[in-house]
Amino acid sequence: MTKRKPLIAGNWKMYKTGPQAAETANRLRSLVSEFVDVDVMVAPPFTALGIVAEILKGSVICVGGQDLFWEVEGAYTGEISAPMLKAAGCTYVIIGHSERRQYFGETNASVNRKIRAALNGGLFPVVCVGESEAERESNQTFSVVQQQLEEGLEGLAFDEVQRASIAYEPVWAIGTGKTATTDQAQEVHKFIREWIDKAYGNSVANAIRILYGGSVKPENISDLMAMADIDGALVGGASLDADSFAALVGFQVDSVTDKA
Ligand code: 13P
Repeated sequence: MTKRKPLIAGNWKMYKTGPQAAETANRLRSLVSEFVDVDVMVAPPFTALGIVAEILKGSVICVGGQDLFWEVEGAYTGEISAPMLKAAGCTYVIIGHSERRQYFGETNASVNRKIRAALNGGLFPVVCVGESEAERESNQTFSVVQQQLEEGLEGLAFDEVQRASIAYEPVWAIGTGKTATTDQAQEVHKFIREWIDKAYGNSVANAIRILYGGSVKPENISDLMAMADIDGALVGGASLDADSFAALVGFQVDSVTDKA
């Protein structure tokens, strides 16, 4: 099997003040072994990035932003740029999360500009795609995801796409407790990899990590990770608690909590 090194990423969304985030980061650092054979990332709110990056420095846990703006600097009140994330200690940045699409007007075109900004700034983009419940029910899952990929990745070079990860997050499974079945997830992951194969060739398709997101928990991660095209997880709720996130990171091991 030619599986890629997994990436387990925690999206803390709009949870945790600086002190709360620091507490979680400290606990996480003590729980996640430096010998885990997975890449690990947490994405705290902007206000906690600095402190979390400081606490996790030298550990295997990387830090990511939850969003960015495509300009490097300027009069853009409230926005954060790639160089700012980089200077705050980020390695990754989540782009195009469905909550940003739903509540903040994110479009495939803005996602495209943000991916370019992330790559130019030396960050690894985690690009989110996924269909709503209505779109799934009307059999539009593949066409929606394909359009998100086509427009989101438009004009990017092979080596640029290779530096990105894709996160498939069916909107109906986010925060609802409804996980896609492993077959439902695998089917879309396979579709994404085949689309990348057609668009960018076999070596990019084989190398790119496609993460699953949507009610991932310590109880279901092993089954998801066993699927051929699932290379990791983007986790919301279950990443907020350090012990639960450490269990997710240690999904290959039965008794991960023993490390505590
Ligand atoms: P939940 O794990 O809370 O469903 O959130 C998933 C998600 O949106 C991660 O980005």
